[in-house]
Amino acid sequence: MRDTAPEEGYVTADGRKIGGVAMEMRNITLRFGGVVAIKDISFDIRWGEIRAIIGPNGAGKSSMLNVISGFYHPQEGDVIFKGYKRPKMRPYQVARMGIARTFQNIALFEGMSVLDNIMTGRLHHMKANLFQQALWWGRAQREEDENREQVEKIIDFLEIQHIRKTPVARLPYGLKKRVELARALAAEPSILLLDEPMAGMNVEEKEDMSRFILDVNDEFGTTTVLIEHDMGVVMDLSDRVVVMDYGKKIGDGTPDEVRTNEEVIKAYLGVAHE
Ligand SMILES: Nc1ncnc2c1ncn2[C@@H]1O[C@H](COP(=O)(O)OP(=O)(O)OP(=O)(O)O)[C@@H](O)[C@H]1O
Ligand SMILES: [Mg+2]
Repeated sequence: MRDTAPEEGYVTADGRKIGGVAMEMRNITLRFGGVVAIKDISFDIRWGEIRAIIGPNGAGKSSMLNVISGFYHPQEGDVIFKGYKRPKMRPYQVARMGIARTFQNIALFEGMSVLDNIMTGRLHHMKANLFQQALWWGRAQREEDENREQVEKIIDFLEIQHIRKTPVARLPYGLKKRVELARALAAEPSILLLDEPMAGMNVEEKEDMSRFILDVNDEFGTTTVLIEHDMGVVMDLSDRVVVMDYGKKIGDGTPDEVRTNEEVIKAYLGVAHE
């Protein structure tokens, strides 16, 4: 039985189509021993939107992303996905449901080439095992061709043709972040989770990354959940913003709504922390 009825969507001022609710976090509480990283938080994510999660250091943003990706299991609350309560799942099972992510600290295979790193994003799409590959060479070959084609499309899209053979270890930080995005996209996710995709980047790199996030959303309709500290970027990119502070939700709405929210202003000015 469905847990919620699908809702109607809406069209944004700039003509982008936002759909009904894709995922709902319902009364999520997550503890690590005595530390309560997330305190009774509820919010939803709509199909096609760019949803930001912001908040000061230690607010619980990455923990929330880790709940969505199945890496952490909350002690209380439910994750409702496509209208159904999601059972406790391992991260690879969540990935198979079309949810891909990047990490706050880059997690690539440094010794491998850019191309090979991106290919690892296709693992969920590889059905033929070694035995089948030996027995049905044709089928395995077809699968390999399809995977290659998809990866090449993403390499073109993110403009990284020139570094395709380069070992990741030799790349500057900004490009590593882009390769990580490429690997996540290789999985053809319907929901993309990005943990600080622009952290440590210079202005130009941030502009590039912002453009790619918007282009991905435009071109593939990818629903994106984004953690970011740069307020300018958040205000520019996102349709709606969840604000966290000390594990609690203190704001939720459009960029304009949260910008003028008293509690949010206090948290950012540090008043609430004194
Ligand atoms: N695996 C863990 N074990 C114990 N405590 C944890 C763990 N992960 C997070 N925490 C704690 O939970 C709280 C929230 O951490 P989290 O990393 O989610 O914050 P954040 O908002 O992502 O911060 P930042 O902006 O610094 O990345 C912090 O107090 C942190 O120390
Ligand atoms: Mg974090």
